[in-house]
Amino acid sequence: MTDATRNASSPQGCSPKDRVLIFDTTLRDGEQCPGATMTFEEKLEVADVLDAMGVDIIEAGFPIASDGDFEAVSAIARRIKRATVAGLARAISADIARAGEAVRHAAKPRIHTFVSTSPIHLEHQMRKSEEEVLEIITKTVAQARNLVEDVEWSAMDATRTPIDYLCRTVEAAIKAGATTINLPDTVGYAVPDEYRAMFRQIRERVPNADKAIFSVHCHNDLGLAVANSLAGIEGGARQIECTINGIGERAGNAALEEVVMALRVRGDVLPYDTGIDASLLTRASKAVSTACSFPVQYNKAIVGRNAFAHESGIHQDGMLKNQTTYEIMTPESVGVSKTSLVMGKHSGRAAFRSKLKEMGYDLGDNQLEDAFTRFKALADRKKHVYDEDIEALVDENLASAHD
Ligand code: KIV
Ligand code: ZN
Repeated sequence: MTDATRNASSPQGCSPKDRVLIFDTTLRDGEQCPGATMTFEEKLEVADVLDAMGVDIIEAGFPIASDGDFEAVSAIARRIKRATVAGLARAISADIARAGEAVRHAAKPRIHTFVSTSPIHLEHQMRKSEEEVLEIITKTVAQARNLVEDVEWSAMDATRTPIDYLCRTVEAAIKAGATTINLPDTVGYAVPDEYRAMFRQIRERVPNADKAIFSVHCHNDLGLAVANSLAGIEGGARQIECTINGIGERAGNAALEEVVMALRVRGDVLPYDTGIDASLLTRASKAVSTACSFPVQYNKAIVGRNAFAHESGIHQDGMLKNQTTYEIMTPESVGVSKTSLVMGKHSGRAAFRSKLKEMGYDLGDNQLEDAFTRFKALADRKKHVYDEDIEALVDENLASAHD
């Protein structure tokens, strides 16, 4: 058993795993969601946590969007020495120049430029023909490539783009100098099989596909962002775009902590490594939640407050006997100090006994039974049973035994 997992087979002895790059867009796509705005200082704090955690690429913002965004991207570019720092740009010359200026001082700068490719966007939003968009791709990617070595190009709404045309756009972007090709599920419309197949086809059909790294970028409108991201990796992509706590436009983006731990815990069927120090996931989640004042839902995978909490008697009994019964990863592996057995109306005797022991009580069988009956009655009336409540009922129990 590895430190991170409770039941995955050990990777030792297996063939080496492929490395998957983690591209964090909390400060760009994440910050774009309503109400998630962060101050300059908060953005720097989040960037520091992301860098410490081992994120490969930090998308620091959209420099043309505002002077504030430009300043934040520039400051992060100067500050971060390990990760690549990316700035987003539409397929517009002024955007690309501004993004290039903002990331200029980064140790590893990247310009990320995008244009829509789907018929819906071409007709209703861009009002451009397919041929016009191909010309735009060639021109704008080449402009970005004149500014930096590392250029990512995204086909916005790729999953609603006919595959033949998507192949032509990808070929043009690589020819113009793109080093990473991102095929986003912009509106969260794809299902895993389809998204996996799209990457397989593009990589097979585009003649210069081997010159670029392919990337997944999934939105969560149908709750499939993580599943789609993993499917895209199986289809040959080697970069995952994601955000801490899954924040992002509408229903959000694929959650970084979920993709990282899915690859870690299920390395037996998903043989890919990330460079992420998972023990910092909880810290990163708290930093982002505080910075953008977005609470994390209690039952959120990996970082929700209930992710390592057990209340039912059957589960608590199992956990007291062996933690692999109801946990597939250790809380410590994601930066949580320990599993919690929450005392409530579903708790059983075994957990109650263990709780009393932890609180320093050593009761005989009759006393324990009596206290347990009182505890159950209290738990039926009260939503949260705190340690003080248990203390009070046990003390009352002991006092009545002495009367
Ligand atoms: O969802 C999307 O298509 C995007 C692009 C800008 C990459 O966020
Ligand atoms: Zn997006």
